[in-house]
Amino acid sequence: MPVAALSTRNEAEKSRELGVAISNPYMAFMKMRLVYASILILGVLCLYFSMEPFEEPPRFLKKGQGKFLQLPDIDCKQKPPFLVLLVTSSHKQLAARMAIRKTWGRETEVRGRRVKTLFLLGASDKTYEMNAIAQEGKQHRDIIQKDFKDVYFNLTLKTMMGMEWVHHFCPQAAFVMKTDSDMFVNVGYLTDLLLKKNKTSRFFTGYIKSNELPIRQKSSKWFVSKSEYPQDKYPPFCSGTGYIFSRDVASKVYNVSDSVPFLKLEDVFVGLCLAKLKIRPEELHTKQTFFPDSLRFSVCLFQKIVTCHHVMPQDLLIYWQLLENSQEQNCSSV
Ligand SMILES: *[C@@H]1O[C@H](CO)[C@@H](O)[C@H](O)[C@H]1NC(C)=O
Ligand SMILES: *[C@@H]1O[C@H](CO)[C@@H](O)[C@H](O)[C@H]1NC(C)=O
Ligand SMILES: *[C@@H]1O[C@H](CO)[C@@H](O)[C@H](O)[C@H]1NC(C)=O
Ligand SMILES: *[C@@H]1O[C@H](CO)[C@@H](O)[C@H](O)[C@H]1NC(C)=O
Repeated sequence: MPVAALSTRNEAEKSRELGVAISNPYMAFMKMRLVYASILILGVLCLYFSMEPFEEPPRFLKKGQGKFLQLPDIDCKQKPPFLVLLVTSSHKQLAARMAIRKTWGRETEVRGRRVKTLFLLGASDKTYEMNAIAQEGKQHRDIIQKDFKDVYFNLTLKTMMGMEWVHHFCPQAAFVMKTDSDMFVNVGYLTDLLLKKNKTSRFFTGYIKSNELPIRQKSSKWFVSKSEYPQDKYPPFCSGTGYIFSRDVASKVYNVSDSVPFLKLEDVFVGLCLAKLKIRPEELHTKQTFFPDSLRFSVCLFQKIVTCHHVMPQDLLIYWQLLENSQEQNCSSV
């Protein structure tokens, strides 16, 4: 006797014991099939919902989304800058902005070239912060602000706002730097190196990361899921702590930004845009000059670097003072 028929009869008997009226073994057989089918479907559904939503389509940025709340006072057409420094900043970082305005951001002319430092901000939901930043912008005229929510994971929107601003309002700038509020930037040395390099288009430089892998641990600040970024490797990019590019790159990156899957890691996102444009980040100097981490200060060291990270506002003021007073210091033996 086939096993199925046997078990069907057992099931039918069981059903009868349970007081379920089943008139014949065929009905019981059909009922079991239904139960098994339901369990199977339920199992598949459970599996589906417990896994990552791999069917989720990639997100794309909308180019030029949102509106500008503040624009800085700079006429790039009349007086084209050699270098525009765009500093990502947040509402709470007033002390950092003030320190930058008194140090490397104060520079308006370096080696006879125009430079200008501007701050990038989004919108806060706190009215007092919005009022304060409007006031600050009126006073210093160095703020670019749009109406997206100013949170860490909107850093890509903040950077792209900078690209959009250059593309629309300052395409005359020869070079653009994107950096952060907790950085030391040696604008003079950077200008020297850019002039020496003499590459004015399809140029992108900074601290190059060539073999970075997406972090798949959910606990990490830089976690990226497989649905956000399915590939195993990132294209080459430059650390978001400070990168510099020729003017054409701003327009080119802005142009492709809505056809590259969105990533909340702004430096990687820009790297993805560069890969699409077939622009490879390159070294500015044979020696390391970009430091995405902190460094111990010394006059001779800081004269020959472009960036250094994790600099507190009060330290920045001290370092700058020491550098300004050290013009005659002899560093050649270092
Ligand atoms: C980024 O800004 C947009 C626009 O204001 C907002 O809808 C979104 O929630 C913000 N992102 C995060 C991670 O908060
Ligand atoms: C810079 O490059 C241009 C061509 O791209 C060349 O004509 C010029 O002489 C170079 N200048 C210096 C100082 O090397
Ligand atoms: C923007 O992209 C389009 C095609 O994607 C291209 O035709 C156009 O030349 C690009 N513009 C710039 C400024 O790169
Ligand atoms: C700087 O130091 C070098 C070697 O230590 C020395 O030869 C040179 O004369 C010094 N220059 C000045 C201006 O002190």
